[in-house]
Amino acid sequence: MDTKIDAIGESKQKKTKTLRVGFIGMGGIANLHANMYKKIGGVDLVCGCDIRQAALDHFQKNHGIQNLYLDFNKMLKEFKDVDAIDVCTPNGVHCAAAVAAADAGKNVFCEKPMAMSVKEAKMMADAAKRNKVQFVMGFQHRYEPKSFAIREQVESGRFGKILYVRAQALRRRGIPNWGVFGQKKLQGGGPMIDIGVHILDTAYSMIGYPNPISATGNTFTYMGNKKSKVKSGWPNWDYKTYTVEDLAVGMIRFDNGCMLTIESSFVAHIEQDVFTVQIMGEKGGAEWSSANMFFDQGTYMMNAKPSYLGNWDIWDYKMRHAIEVFRDGRKNECPAEHGIAVQKMLDGVYASAAAGKEVAID
Ligand SMILES: NC(=O)c1ccc[n+]([C@@H]2O[C@H](COP(=O)([O-])OP(=O)(O)OC[C@H]3O[C@@H](n4cnc5c(N)ncnc54)[C@H](O)[C@@H]3O)[C@@H](O)[C@H]2O)c1
Repeated sequence: MDTKIDAIGESKQKKTKTLRVGFIGMGGIANLHANMYKKIGGVDLVCGCDIRQAALDHFQKNHGIQNLYLDFNKMLKEFKDVDAIDVCTPNGVHCAAAVAAADAGKNVFCEKPMAMSVKEAKMMADAAKRNKVQFVMGFQHRYEPKSFAIREQVESGRFGKILYVRAQALRRRGIPNWGVFGQKKLQGGGPMIDIGVHILDTAYSMIGYPNPISATGNTFTYMGNKKSKVKSGWPNWDYKTYTVEDLAVGMIRFDNGCMLTIESSFVAHIEQDVFTVQIMGEKGGAEWSSANMFFDQGTYMMNAKPSYLGNWDIWDYKMRHAIEVFRDGRKNECPAEHGIAVQKMLDGVYASAAAGKEVAID
């Protein structure tokens, strides 16, 4: 189906019906999603599940959801009048929730990261395929105006062959002090899988979705598992249950020869937080955070920055895109295959850290 997309990603295609959405996991990010669904409109929030009664009460009171469950299998068995399930649990539940939703014949929208491992991610993609439902991954930085601008230049060939990409998601002091972000068995890892995943997807989506084939890397834990008296904006994380890395670094090789390094940390001894991608090609390059692009013209090295990038909310884009894929048949810009490729990079870095050497990614 051919759809026309406007600047903020809204399909011009005629909307046919209201999309009925249910949640699995109703914590912090589900609350943001619920507010966005209400703001965008054309969506009914019809059911929800969480293992905490307080979350059910909150969603009933604040988002008017009446059909609430403590078990998602029970919800999917008993409540049929729902078109799409929005998976907003900790990472360790993404796979079970997404597979159950797809097997119940529901479209799936999944928060990042896709899963805890490539094996799980593939199970989720397979479930969507065999049930002929749509699966949309919930990455959002690929939708930033500057991501589109740089992607267009890469696609046009302006930078030539892309040789090297440097991706960084580094916080000076920012261990999440809510949820279970410090627990490896529930999250799969620390900053690499939590924030590194964002910048990896942003980079991957700008350089033409290359196929990762090997990885080398290492992880380090030196602060999160200890009590700290140092003042910071994110104090009092749960150091007693902290089993993830503080810092992860890795290098990915793609099948087109391009190399990518990733640096990700909750607690790096650096001047200030860094969240960016640098792209270096044969003929040009770019710096994502500033939207600056670099190339030679005539006898000069030029720095160029779009004078107008567009101005839209990436959360609006991300949620509207998913709604329109499920409801209106809009082309899926963020399918399961993209989630799997990013998961391969995460798995590769963690596997290499465990093995102490470069590992192949299949
Ligand atoms: N895209 C983003 O920028 C972004 C930002 C924050 C979080 N996230 C992702 O969203 C997910 C949730 O993060 P959060 O910050 O909302 O965490 P959270 O801890 O606030 O919420 C998770 C909720 O899931 C519930 N839950 C746990 N196990 C469950 C189960 N078996 N069935 C149903 N509910 C269950 C918990 O009780 C909790 O209410 C994570 O995967 C995280 O990576 C994405």
